Amino acid sequence: MNANAKTETRKTPDTLRSARYFAHDDLRSFGHRSRLRQMGYAPEDWVGKPVIGILNTWSDFNPCHGHFRSRVEDVKRGVLQAGGFPLELPVHSASETFLKPTSMLYRNMAAMEIEEGIRAHPIDGAVLMGGCDKSTPALLMGATSAGVPAIYLPAGPMLRGNWKGRTLGSGSDAWKFWDERRAGLIDEKAWNEIEGGIARSFGHCMTMGTASTMTAIADALGMTLPGASSIPAADAGHNRMAAACGRRIVDMVWEDLVPARILTRPAFENAITVAMAMGCSTNAIIHLIAQARRAGVDIGLDDFDRASRIVPVIANVRPSGETYLMEDFFFAGGLPALMSRLTDHLHLDALTVTGRTLGENIAGAKVHDDDVIRTVDNPIYAEGALAVLRGNLAPEGCVIKPSACAPHLLAHTGPALVFDDYPSLKAAVDDEGLDVTPDHVLVLRNAGPLGGPGMPEWGMLPLPKKLVKQGVRDMLRLSDSRMSGTSYGACILHVSPESYVGGPLALLRTGDLVRVDVPARRIDMLVAEEELERRRAALIPPLPHYERGYGWMFSRHIRQAHEGCDFDFLETSFGAPVGEPSI
Ligand code: FES
Ligand code: MG
Repeated sequence: MNANAKTETRKTPDTLRSARYFAHDDLRSFGHRSRLRQMGYAPEDWVGKPVIGILNTWSDFNPCHGHFRSRVEDVKRGVLQAGGFPLELPVHSASETFLKPTSMLYRNMAAMEIEEGIRAHPIDGAVLMGGCDKSTPALLMGATSAGVPAIYLPAGPMLRGNWKGRTLGSGSDAWKFWDERRAGLIDEKAWNEIEGGIARSFGHCMTMGTASTMTAIADALGMTLPGASSIPAADAGHNRMAAACGRRIVDMVWEDLVPARILTRPAFENAITVAMAMGCSTNAIIHLIAQARRAGVDIGLDDFDRASRIVPVIANVRPSGETYLMEDFFFAGGLPALMSRLTDHLHLDALTVTGRTLGENIAGAKVHDDDVIRTVDNPIYAEGALAVLRGNLAPEGCVIKPSACAPHLLAHTGPALVFDDYPSLKAAVDDEGLDVTPDHVLVLRNAGPLGGPGMPEWGMLPLPKKLVKQGVRDMLRLSDSRMSGTSYGACILHVSPESYVGGPLALLRTGDLVRVDVPARRIDMLVAEEELERRRAALIPPLPHYERGYGWMFSRHIRQAHEGCDFDFLETSFGAPVGEPSI
């Protein structure tokens, strides 16, 4: 048992947060109780029972959470079985599909709503229902700051896509077939069929994209029931897991098992290890840094690079792997099975929501298919999923996913072809007269946290049509944006500081040589320092994107990519802790 578990102070009905709202003989409590009765509840429903807030990210705008509207009933069933009082709280859905300009712009807004929603309501413990990319970090960041016991309920991956018997993966196959379509190799009928087959059920993207990565991270952090992240959304086991979350959170309230006891540095190191072994989305870096800072744990880019050098990619799931998807990963044993192969790299004594340690949770877990979850001696990629590069183009770092790019590009020098905005890049790559060779380094700037704004997932810059027609399927690409976890290719991302705030990427010009050396972890523009100084002096600061509203606040408080892109005032180190609201 983790040492922290022994320090627990058990809650009693009198010391519940909700008792302050409901248990007193005063006008305030009278008002709250009368309003519970207005909803048809009686004292038998609430007296002496923990109020479990079920934070539901269901929305018609979020296909990945389509099942949450009914799945919440399973959670309520579990809460009732364990003697709690379930109340549902709808929160921001963070739909990856429909939020523009990018869901990342709204991750922190969602996290604020979640933190304040938990704090302001009479919630003793929270079930966090999420899964689509940004919803997971938003829920965990908010709940960490709110500080009440919380358990994460991952949406689960959708079923495998299918087109004429061919397995389709979210994102990855869309990009792949789109390149084919642009090259004239796929007709409209086939394209239409693919559109109908690529997303066959509710649940989040079933490749190893940001969603699968972040839910696995929640699992590895100890914030979910063991292995919950691997259960497909449409599997009956998902309903059973949801009910079990409901039962467990009630006990967590009595045990006062708050996130701070689970989210320690060893837990974050476990999450990084698992992320690497999964061949994770590059977005994981930003979200994990932000989550760690909420927990007061200092995690940085170098922690990822260090882990990437010793943890092999053993989850053979697309896009790092070639064949399998999350459903296959589940049948191969899921996350506990994967972790059973990484015990040398994991802190097995880390406490989890079960009240037991990670090691206890995964004891006896077995891999059922050695091709889907490889042994560490037979990985799909010997070094980890990510590499952090630094140099005169990115003094604070940038990242690349070597496992997803053509090997000959890992050490490459080529002339830059620079674009200041996405529309001009898009127009240029479709121009078959574009002066470009496979040796060029395609560059997009003004696409970072402030410049995007919101650091859109533009980082898998489209290959020039001319090269695609020549059969080129990868080239070096460089930007201060992010890329979807289902993307692939030699894409260097998250250049920090970003060009919009005057980072050195702003000084690069078309024709300058860019040298990338992944084994040496370097990225440089081969331009003399005096010339860079001249260019720096001539830089004109860009106009602000927003003059009012949320964007205005975002612009003033967003951190850079290497710091996790949280708002400065939301980090734990900012100011005194927020106390309980007066009732
Ligand atoms: Fe929701 Fe991919 S769109 S997880
Ligand atoms: Mg995504």
